[in-house]
Amino acid sequence: MDAALSQEKELSAYGLIDGPDSVTEVVLRAMSGAQDARLRQVMEAFVRHLHAFAREVRLTEDEFERAVDVLNRIGRATHGAHNEGILFADAVGLSTLVCLLNNGGAGPTETAAALLGPFWRDNAPPTQDGGSIVRSPTDGPALAVTGRFTDPQGAPLAAVEVDVWHSSPSGFYENQDATQAEMNLRGRFTTGADGVFRFRSVLPAGYPVPTDGPVGELLRAQRRHPFRPAHLHVMGFKPGYKTLITQVFVADDPRLESDVVFGVTRELVGNYVRHSDGGYTLDQTFVMQPGEAKRPTPPIS
Ligand code: BEZ
Ligand code: FE
Repeated sequence: MDAALSQEKELSAYGLIDGPDSVTEVVLRAMSGAQDARLRQVMEAFVRHLHAFAREVRLTEDEFERAVDVLNRIGRATHGAHNEGILFADAVGLSTLVCLLNNGGAGPTETAAALLGPFWRDNAPPTQDGGSIVRSPTDGPALAVTGRFTDPQGAPLAAVEVDVWHSSPSGFYENQDATQAEMNLRGRFTTGADGVFRFRSVLPAGYPVPTDGPVGELLRAQRRHPFRPAHLHVMGFKPGYKTLITQVFVADDPRLESDVVFGVTRELVGNYVRHSDGGYTLDQTFVMQPGEAKRPTPPIS
C-alpha cells in the first residue's frame, strides 16, 4: 500500500459507537475496504452473525470470558499429534456441514464424501496391491477390502493414489497408542487399470474421540457419548478429479445414528460381509467427480 493511501485509511472515520445496535454497523464499515472480495463477504457475514448471536442469547461478560478461554485452550491442546480445533468443528457439526455444502450437488443430495477428521497422516507407507496394513500384532476379525474407483459414468479410474486409515479394535489410532507400530492400520495404494485396489486389515471397531480437552468438557456438559461408529477412512487422489475424502461405516454398529461428529449419511454405510471362518470382506465402489486434485493439510504430522 502506498504512503498516501495508508494515511487516508488511518484518518478515515467509521463513526462513534453510540450503543449496542450501532457497533455492528461501525465494524462493518471499518472492514468494508478489504480488497479481496471473498474476504470482505466472509468477514462481513461472520461479524453480522456473531453479533446477532451475542444479542440473541444476551451473552454475559462471564460467558464471554469463558468462551475466549475455551478458544485459547483449543489452541493450546493442539500440537503435532493432536488437533483439537478440527475435533471441535467436528463435534458441533460444522465439518459435516461444510462437507455437504461442497460435495454431492451442494447439499440436498446424498454424497460419497465425508469429513476428514483429525487423524489423517500424510505419507502412509506405499503398500502393494492386496498387502496388509496390520504392521504390529492387532486383535480383531480379519478384513479383506476390494475398492473400485470410477468416474461418474462408471468408467474405471486407474492410477488413483488411495490412502486408507482406521483405528485399532481397541479404539486408538496408532499415533495415540505407544503399543502400535508406526503407521499401523494406515496404507497408500494405487489403483490398477481396472480402477481396483485391495488390502487386508482387521475389522474396524467404534471408538471414543479424545475427551481430555475442551471438546470432552462440552460433550459431558451436553450429556453426549463420545463414540464414533466403526468405520474405515479412504482418500482418493488423482489429477483432474476432486480429491475424494470419505468413510465406510459398519452397518450393524449400534451408534450409527448417534455419531458424536455427525458423519454418517446413508450412502456411507458399507456392506461388510461376515463369512463362516469369522472373517469379513468389503467390496466398495468410490465415485470421483471431475475437479481439482488437492490433498488437504494434514491435521497431524
Ligand atoms: C475420525 O474418524 O478419525 C474422527 C473424526 C472426527 C473426530 C474424531 C475422529
Ligand atoms: Fe476415524
